[in-house]
Amino acid sequence: MNQKTAAITAVGAYLPEFVLTNKLLETMVDTNDEWITTRTGIKERRILKKEGAGSSYMAIRAAQDLMKKKDLDPAEIDLVLVATATPDMLVASTAAYVASEIGAVNAFAYDLLAACSSFLYGMSTAASYIESGRYKKVLLIGADKMSSIIDYTDRTTCIIFGDGAGAVLFEPNEEGMGLQDEYLRSDGSGREFLKMEAGGSILPASHETVDNKQHFARQDGKTVFKFAVSNMADVSAKIMERNKLSHEDVNWLVPHQANKRIIDATANRMGVGPEKVLMNIEHYGNTTSATLPLLLYDFEKQIKKGDNLIFAAFGGGFTWGSIYLKWAYNS
Ligand code: UT7
Repeated sequence: MNQKTAAITAVGAYLPEFVLTNKLLETMVDTNDEWITTRTGIKERRILKKEGAGSSYMAIRAAQDLMKKKDLDPAEIDLVLVATATPDMLVASTAAYVASEIGAVNAFAYDLLAACSSFLYGMSTAASYIESGRYKKVLLIGADKMSSIIDYTDRTTCIIFGDGAGAVLFEPNEEGMGLQDEYLRSDGSGREFLKMEAGGSILPASHETVDNKQHFARQDGKTVFKFAVSNMADVSAKIMERNKLSHEDVNWLVPHQANKRIIDATANRMGVGPEKVLMNIEHYGNTTSATLPLLLYDFEKQIKKGDNLIFAAFGGGFTWGSIYLKWAYNS
């Protein structure tokens, strides 16, 4: 095989210090630890409390963590992609600011918005640039300050989401490691079920939109749950079949952390045992674009060179998909 593959060669992360526990949520809305734990698997999440700090604050720190671990000179980075559903602001690119702040002086940068699938789609974008031979170092960051669009009086959403950021570096690989296959999907008829209504071009901000609390993310949880379960499982099964992977060939399932029950259903459909399922939802909740890189960060030491990883995600839009990647290094 002569064609270059695109491999992940380093991982970094940043998590805010403040821990919002289920117990604390019990004092804020009508909920309880038992309900949250059994329905979602979440025990606590991190919240960025720092005044004036947006998603870029966490993205920069995740990138700096990666660069330090990898001893990477930021001037060598060709492209910085920030996958996010909560950019610092809508018009000025968050990624451009992040690139400048980390010293990626030779890079261009842009944001990639696809709700909870932003990072998964970003993996495809990053890998394509590398595979084409056009660029050699692509930094992909998943960062979300979900607390900036969450209504902490709405018990159906505030228990789920948390803040965080993770970063990975994509580089060419000569041994066939890295991204092997992808199956990415979207369906715009799903946008009614998970959205933040105001602040975009359909419904610009006004006194009324603020009064109506339309600048918060809302979801029809049951409908999203149903679509997430069937679609995440479908694409994961499909990518295994297409690559002739049995459950024994799969070393790790790396699933978006939205709800433990969705993750369990996906693993069951793949025939993959719980020991192969990466999970940290208990500690961080749903960090949207940051869930996948945070899993890689937390479990980096257990993942070995040559391991077969199946990534899967589902999110607003709807957007979803699965990626098959061979891990390229031992840490
Ligand atoms: O990452 C983006 C994609 N998002 C997702 O994948 C999220 C998918 N959806 C879900 O994870 C689940 O639907 C939720 C966790 C959001 C909700 O779980 P559910 O099992 O679907 O609960 P439900 O909405 O059907 O509500 C069941 C009951 C209701 O009470 P009644 O009507 O049966 O009396 C709710 O009012 O639980 C009630 N409830 C709560 N009770 C305590 C809803 N939220 C809470 C809460 N605490 N926080």
